[in-house]
Amino acid sequence: MEFSAVSMLSQGELLALLMSRQSQWPLGLPVPEAAELDLVFEAAIRAPDHSNLQPWRFITIKEPATHELGEIFAAAAVKRNAQDLGKASRLQATAAPMLIAIGAQISLSSKVPEIEQMLSVGAAAMNILNALHILGYGAYWASGENTYDAHVRRALGLSQENHRLLGFIYVGTPTRIPRRKQRPSAKTCVANWVGPLLEEPRPASIEA
Ligand SMILES: Cc1cc2nc3c(=O)[nH]c(=O)nc-3n(C[C@H](O)[C@H](O)[C@H](O)COP(=O)(O)O)c2cc1C
Repeated sequence: MEFSAVSMLSQGELLALLMSRQSQWPLGLPVPEAAELDLVFEAAIRAPDHSNLQPWRFITIKEPATHELGEIFAAAAVKRNAQDLGKASRLQATAAPMLIAIGAQISLSSKVPEIEQMLSVGAAAMNILNALHILGYGAYWASGENTYDAHVRRALGLSQENHRLLGFIYVGTPTRIPRRKQRPSAKTCVANWVGPLLEEPRPASIEA
């Protein structure tokens, strides 16, 4: 696909589109079609990737498979705590018509540290959120205890020692007009570095 639609937008409009992304909830039908999902995952793998390790693993779970996942979530919750009836976990999996499990396949023998490979997967997830937003869909990235449960990971096919699960992106169409989220000023987390921050004043000999 050529980027004709994008070339019709000014840089300001493109940035405004990017900055209008926010997590959306609740989500209903429709979900992206196959061709749209292809674009979403093409965008995902534009994430920076040290040493071209391609650590990304994305698993789509659409209704009715979300109900199967709900049973997995519920069984995992009961295993963690016998008092848990699994009801809340079951609802977590079926709360949107589609989920994308964000997985990682870490190259343990690489000189690239695991954190960098995980960051690449995180960056890919961000691209997924942005691509869905550009295509007019809503999304919400959530984790929770089931994300870190080996039973859940195994059921999703992430059973190897080097597999990780970073959470689930819930996907669909917002069912109500979202309130525009208030954002802090980016100035609160930006600094312009011009040299070392010295706790002690420099000795006079260095000042000269
Ligand atoms: C790795 C990760 C896991 C998250 N898990 C949850 C979660 O379990 N529940 C939740 O409400 N928000 C979770 N969030 C935060 C939401 O995805 C979202 O960023 C937050 O609600 C702020 O909304 P915004 O994206 O519009 O700024 C998670 C975010 C990240 C990056």
